[in-house]
Amino acid sequence: MVRFHTVNRRAFLSTSAFASVGFIAGVPPGVAGDAEVEITPSSSGPEISPHLYGQFLEHLGGVIYDGVWVGPKSKVANVDGIRKQFLDDMKRIGVPDFRWPGGCFADGYHWRDGIGDSAKRPRTYNYWQVQAPRGVDLTETNQFGIHEFMKLCRLSGAEPYLAANMGSGSPAEFHDWVSYCNAPVGSVSLAAERAANGDRDPFGVRWWGVGNESWGCGGNMTPQEYATLYRRFVTQFPAFEPRPYLVAVGPRGHTEGMDIGWTNGFFESMQGHRAVVDGLSVHFYTDFRNKPERVTTFDAKGWYDVLLEGARIEQVIEGHWAAMGKFDTTHHTKLVIDEWGVWYRVGEEIDPAYLLSQPLTMRDAMHTAMTLDIFNRHADKIAMANVAQTINCIHSLFLAEGDRFVRTPAYYVFEMYRNHMRSTLAAMHIKCDVLKISGKNGPVTMQALSGSASIKGKTLTVTLTNPSLDSSVTTRIRLTAGSIVEGQGRVLMHPEMTAKNTFDRPDQVKSAPLPVNVRGNRVEVSLPPRSIAALELRIS
Ligand code: AHR
Repeated sequence: MVRFHTVNRRAFLSTSAFASVGFIAGVPPGVAGDAEVEITPSSSGPEISPHLYGQFLEHLGGVIYDGVWVGPKSKVANVDGIRKQFLDDMKRIGVPDFRWPGGCFADGYHWRDGIGDSAKRPRTYNYWQVQAPRGVDLTETNQFGIHEFMKLCRLSGAEPYLAANMGSGSPAEFHDWVSYCNAPVGSVSLAAERAANGDRDPFGVRWWGVGNESWGCGGNMTPQEYATLYRRFVTQFPAFEPRPYLVAVGPRGHTEGMDIGWTNGFFESMQGHRAVVDGLSVHFYTDFRNKPERVTTFDAKGWYDVLLEGARIEQVIEGHWAAMGKFDTTHHTKLVIDEWGVWYRVGEEIDPAYLLSQPLTMRDAMHTAMTLDIFNRHADKIAMANVAQTINCIHSLFLAEGDRFVRTPAYYVFEMYRNHMRSTLAAMHIKCDVLKISGKNGPVTMQALSGSASIKGKTLTVTLTNPSLDSSVTTRIRLTAGSIVEGQGRVLMHPEMTAKNTFDRPDQVKSAPLPVNVRGNRVEVSLPPRSIAALELRIS
């Protein structure tokens, strides 16, 4: 049983350079609380890269087939084989990038299997097929290869982020893939081969992941072994345009101790060597795989446990950033959180063949919003983040099967937060109640309101989350300089914490307009329990 208290004290607590929270006098549960939000609009903050809103697609269960790829002959509406509704919604949220082809799959993937005449492509082993239910064939058909992936990127406006095969591949295979993607016609033969396969223009791939989870499915290496192999993979990287952004495999952030040993070991082993590391991959799953927590049936304790565990990503960002700073004092290397999301135990898949598919609820939408606000607040440290995975797997924005398609509650958060992309982070200071929760490990506290703010021209975007299951929060937003001319808002909420969207009832959870009261340089909004708000304020 979870009990909620508020704390009657005035104290101030800094959570980051760009957001802070203080506690003001509390109110009994179930009654409206108050929050004061002070925002300093200025142009001196870091830019919130659009890539913090990145996506991840792997050849795993129902992600590619038939989440993304239905094939050009399908009855399902498609554009050259890509599911049309998926494309439309990706454009709607302004998708910045897709990481592909894995994941664990990437370290067994040979890119040549996915090019040329689709009827002649081989059927190959897929790392995940061993987990398929009896009678279900999840071998890889290779119908979706690099040309199809690049078409998805072009049609949706996303940048490609490719993961190299370090597990069963070689530096030569990797370098050939780079040349195949980026060499101009008239240079190496691989460019002519690409042109013969339908793409005369180079793909211009900038983001390259050098392996995936090399401490696990990517080769079971020590950080020292990985550092040696990393250098072999990147030293003779073909120098075609664009200059690559090279991402090294980093820690499994969700483990106890957040795997700082990997980061230290890798950077120690790189000392004295000339090999560029632009990004360090961090994986952080809110990991409930081995816990009794279920996706769709849970109580208040389950609600808060997941949110609290998810919020730990902020410590992971700060911890690894500090560790990296000991070796890289100018912080050339940025964090690339290329897998994040809530991962529950198996058993509630939408179809047994759609491995790891999860029917997400309002709880996961709240987790999404809190995570994206954390990313925004650490925009100076993070080059990219990719939710795992976009469709039919773990923390998905969509579920799709045949001609059925539904947006999960998490989708709406990406839609509501899209204005933050390419904006400048604005300092935000929150004074609010604190939720005191009695969880299974004793009492813990949680911010009653958190969020982030950013500015682009004369538009201030403010996103806020009220995780309380009982109390609404009357929130007054004040600017330290300038005035608010007008404002509009949207809110995502539902009276049931377990609310979700299904194929049969696709619109149970969706965003709605939120009344915004503008007075001079102040705005007042009422945030219902379990709500996520996005405000767009025009300032002078
Ligand atoms: O996203 C599912 C899997 O989780 C990925 O393949 C792997 O990188 C991670 O362990």
